[in-house]
Amino acid sequence: MAAQSQKKSCGQIMNEFGEFMWNPRTREFMGRTASSWALIVTFYVAFYAFLTGMFALSMWVMLQTIDEYTPKYGDRLPSPGMMIRPKTDTLEIVYNINDASNSGWGGYVAKLNSALEMYNDSVQVQQGSVCNPGVFNRQEDTGDVRNYPKKACQFLRSSLGNCSGLSDPTYGYKDGSPCVLIKMNRIINFLPEVIPSLSNSSITINCMGKKPKSAQNDTSTDIELMLGSRSYYPSDGTDLGTMDLMYFPYYGNRAQKNYTQPLVAVQFHNISLNQDLYVECRANAGNIKSDNERDKFSGRVTFKLRINN
Ligand SMILES: *[C@@H]1O[C@H](CO)[C@@H](O)[C@H](O)[C@H]1NC(C)=O
Ligand SMILES: *[C@@H]1O[C@H](CO)[C@@H](O)[C@H](O)[C@H]1NC(C)=O
Ligand SMILES: *[C@@H]1O[C@H](CO)[C@@H](O)[C@H](O)[C@H]1NC(C)=O
Ligand SMILES: *[C@@H]1O[C@H](CO)[C@@H](O)[C@H](O)[C@H]1NC(C)=O
Ligand SMILES: *[C@@H]1O[C@H](CO)[C@@H](O)[C@H](O)[C@H]1NC(C)=O
Ligand SMILES: *[C@@H]1O[C@H](CO)[C@@H](O)[C@H](O)[C@H]1NC(C)=O
Repeated sequence: MAAQSQKKSCGQIMNEFGEFMWNPRTREFMGRTASSWALIVTFYVAFYAFLTGMFALSMWVMLQTIDEYTPKYGDRLPSPGMMIRPKTDTLEIVYNINDASNSGWGGYVAKLNSALEMYNDSVQVQQGSVCNPGVFNRQEDTGDVRNYPKKACQFLRSSLGNCSGLSDPTYGYKDGSPCVLIKMNRIINFLPEVIPSLSNSSITINCMGKKPKSAQNDTSTDIELMLGSRSYYPSDGTDLGTMDLMYFPYYGNRAQKNYTQPLVAVQFHNISLNQDLYVECRANAGNIKSDNERDKFSGRVTFKLRINN
């Protein structure tokens, strides 16, 4: 038997296949009768219709639980991330003091100009409200009554003083005293805790020189001294930048469309030229962690600053 079937000719195989496709004796198509096929098709149609219905139903049930104004699953970031402007891919601000072109400091000035456009006093007065400094700008809903749209507090560009680009359109870059803006990422409903020894009305930001790891044991260079002195805007007179509590909490883009993040500008004076300098800026708040080794943007940001001449 086995030997016989192995020796089937090509014609025989074609015949058998033809019979499998359509067998006129049993009136079977591909091994099944018409009624058998009809049953199978009916079963699968019903089966997929059921699956579609189940999917639609669970989708609908889930959508019922979603509030269109607040995300259901906020990322539970323990601490907001920090970023700088002008932003560069490598977090480096390196320029030659004599190069005003777009690839020199002109490029940084252009980036700062566009980052600050929405902070123009005229824009802020139009879309923001005057808030009470030093207290949270809470605008809770009362039960089911929505408190929308929520107001946003003005952050005036002019409060950035010498770093506003208004009195000095080059933000100090042309004189080797560059301004850098520090931004904190928005986190919905985040309420920062003040550190009373620093300020009772704001969280504070400060920047320090940081030695690169390779020079950690090198005591001959004082990086703080090389970095010179810094001034911060806005500032409450102490040697720190301030982010007023009135800019918190943030309620999300949908509920608080006009919100603009507070900024702190730091201006570096007297920095050593032709030197790679590393700067670390930190947010000081009771509930912002800035020492997470794994997340170097959590509550802090580090960048390289180098001015050549
Ligand atoms: C913001 O102010 C700057 C400087 O005064 C001006 O050049 C710019 O056009 C203003 N932008 C907007 C959007 O008002
Ligand atoms: C948002 O800004 C627009 C102008 O850009 C203003 O008309 C509107 O009243 C502002 N909304 C709130 C809630 O302040
Ligand atoms: C701001 O700039 C003006 C003019 O250059 C200068 O007199 C003043 O001391 C600067 N302020 C600070 C805090 O550096
Ligand atoms: C904050 O308030 C506490 C208690 O009222 C006070 O002791 C502290 O000096 C205040 N801090 C600042 C920076 O004013
Ligand atoms: C710095 O000193 C410590 C001990 O004094 C040593 O273990 C470490 O390797 C040194 N690091 C560098 C970069 O030289
Ligand atoms: C920068 O250094 C010069 C000379 O060393 C000094 O006169 C000036 O006060 C310093 N400026 C700042 C803002 O520290």
